[in-house]
Amino acid sequence: MNIPTPHISAKAGEFARTVLMPGDPLRAKFVADNYLENAVLVNSVRGVNGYTGKYKGKSVSVMASGMGMPSMGIYSYELFNFYNVDNIIRIGTAGSLREDLKVRDVAFAMGACTNSSYANQFEMPGSFAPIASYALLKKAVDVTKDMGIPYKVGNFLSSDNFYDDSLSTMKWAKMGILCVEMEAAALYMNAARAGKNALAVCTISDSLVTGEATTAEERQNSFHNMMKIALEIA
Ligand code: HPA
Repeated sequence: MNIPTPHISAKAGEFARTVLMPGDPLRAKFVADNYLENAVLVNSVRGVNGYTGKYKGKSVSVMASGMGMPSMGIYSYELFNFYNVDNIIRIGTAGSLREDLKVRDVAFAMGACTNSSYANQFEMPGSFAPIASYALLKKAVDVTKDMGIPYKVGNFLSSDNFYDDSLSTMKWAKMGILCVEMEAAALYMNAARAGKNALAVCTISDSLVTGEATTAEERQNSFHNMMKIALEIA
């Protein structure tokens, strides 16, 4: 397929090799306005604004994934396969499934289980285990340790359901799953298929164990830690 793609209007070379992906388009704009120098708008299809600018002299892009695996699937596929993007770092929020993972903590998805059928398209004769890029994960852990920010590394659940009628999400906790979000597994599968690198970093916004949730202001501050981590490894 040629560029522009059905969902991205940028020209060739307008995306950096590393793209940070929050779920929310307004978050992407916030990152461009507050963390990048000379940020240029490179996509605005469907209001999913993408920006490319500089962080400490390096070219970095930021664009939203939207919510859920279908949306993340579309944007990460087009970036990896048509815009020569090598690294996508998801910067999102997740709900904790463990007592010892508190709101505002940062978690890295070493792997991402899912209840979605996204992997069916690859027609594997078994189930595929979506995993992070070890290189990105190691760098992320190193910079997070240096910054003194508390973190956990482990398995995530990428769920198709924010509202789950069967209330089954907590079942994943018995297998040691850290938290639930809705995008990492699609990102990891697209990266694997394209031979590229991906990492999902999430700030815990709420706890399914304690019912605790962050305020919008708290989310903003904890988001700052996650942004610093993502930009340092970009
Ligand atoms: N479920 C799914 N995605 C989420 C949640 C949740 O509870 N919290 C933040 N992202």
